[in-house]
Amino acid sequence: MKLQEFYQRFELDTSLVQKAGFNPYYPVIQSGLNDQIIVEGEKFINLASNNYLGLANDSRVKEACSKAIENYGVSLCATPIASGYSELHANVVQKLSKFVGMESAIIYPSCYQANNGLFSVIAGKEDIVIIDRSSHSSLIEGVKSAGCKIRPFLHNNMTYLEKILKKISGYRQVFVVTESVFSTEGNVAPFREIVELCKRFNAIPVIDDSHGIGVIGERGRGILEYAGIKDFHGIYTASLGKSIANSGGIICGKKSIIDYLRYYSSHLVYSTAILPSVLAGINKVLDIINDEFSELSRKIWQYKSKISKSLQDSGFDLTDSVTPITSIMSGNSLDTLLLAKELFENKILSTPFVYPSVPYNEGRIRLIAGANLSEATINFYASKDYPKKLRRIKYYDEETGITFVFLTNNFELDALEIALLYKYRWQVELFFKWIKQHLKVKKFWGTSENAVRIQIYCAIITYTTVAIIKENLKSPLSIYEILQILNVSLFDKTPLNELITKPYIQNVKELNCNQLTLFEF
Ligand SMILES: Cc1ncc(COP(=O)(O)O)c(C=O)c1O
Repeated sequence: MKLQEFYQRFELDTSLVQKAGFNPYYPVIQSGLNDQIIVEGEKFINLASNNYLGLANDSRVKEACSKAIENYGVSLCATPIASGYSELHANVVQKLSKFVGMESAIIYPSCYQANNGLFSVIAGKEDIVIIDRSSHSSLIEGVKSAGCKIRPFLHNNMTYLEKILKKISGYRQVFVVTESVFSTEGNVAPFREIVELCKRFNAIPVIDDSHGIGVIGERGRGILEYAGIKDFHGIYTASLGKSIANSGGIICGKKSIIDYLRYYSSHLVYSTAILPSVLAGINKVLDIINDEFSELSRKIWQYKSKISKSLQDSGFDLTDSVTPITSIMSGNSLDTLLLAKELFENKILSTPFVYPSVPYNEGRIRLIAGANLSEATINFYASKDYPKKLRRIKYYDEETGITFVFLTNNFELDALEIALLYKYRWQVELFFKWIKQHLKVKKFWGTSENAVRIQIYCAIITYTTVAIIKENLKSPLSIYEILQILNVSLFDKTPLNELITKPYIQNVKELNCNQLTLFEF
């Protein structure tokens, strides 16, 4: 392959970002995680980090980190098995295993590395791993690299998991792998049931508690405390870069397996040991959690409920999160980026998840308010006008049995409402007729005389349908896109029947309408 061709292979497809006019990834942060942060020169509220307890910029933690630098320097410049294992390291490892309620622990430079390296040590081709299909990429990649048989199970579905456990036989060892708190949805695995099932079927449970440690459980000790599990016989992993506000990843378990990993896990043995300052930071955070968890936790829950309520009042669909995570169901990738853009323009930093991080049309915008934020800041942003402009509309059409979901805003809806109510109502019906005739859509929703709301939705649906047909897309479009495609503004007073005659509509006729796909949710 020619050099030029080689590099061409890596050219990014930027069409989505171009359509949205916004790239939410790799924002340039220019301050520590304070009550507000500086992003690209401007003040933002940060709802995009996993700094649950707000300790990443805590003066006590920073002081502990500085002291460790004085004592040990910035690095021991060695892998832990060689000369990278300090007294501080040994103490923190012990403290962590006690904290989460396990016998023994080791610290990897990151949890990605820990999850990635674990399975190639504990599982081989004679074994099978049954894994929740929504598990984090580090677990999935780790399992894949082990060369064992893999069976995904439906997310948090215990009936399905039990079915698989009953069916399989002949493997040396069965592992059941899941996360505790699922970070895009904010829901929690039924881990007690998983552990019971594992006991019944002689399987080893493996849990990634990255978003649970320091967050769930009465004292913030994570999933085992939360689920009331004592003497856990499985393997526990967690990131130290979220509520623990540092970096690194732990694997905890029975002493024999941890000792084995200390010598045979290449992801640990051949990688420079975690830095002394980071270890001191972890150490300090664990002390703070011991002393202050109830107050810190009270804050994050209070902030979470304010944010969720504000979004729900504005018509957003949220996931059923039972943790401090608030997650907006934002539809397709473009809608997700557009919503993140809208938030960004209102100086709110959020985390948008688009395909392939999440399934098609299951985009999410995650918001986490850390305990470092002030109540005044939360109140200011929660009461701002911004979310009230944005709305997700769900419309279930009884005739077709299809649910349509649109991202729109009150402003546009108002404009439509007025237009339809007072001026163009009859034209909507004409427009439907035209669509039925020309596009051979047999089952189409009727225009209900008594429901003005339906009329409004119908108009939006009509726009959408045209746009879907025109673009021959398989996913619904946001009102923003539709307007863009139709090249109209809702202030444009062109009656709908005139719109029909515009060139874009004529193009529609040329398409093969059998390909019409109305996306089903
Ligand atoms: C569930 C889960 N596991 C593992 C990781 C990786 O952790 P780390 O950042 O320590 O590598 C993450 C981080 O995004 C995570 O969310």
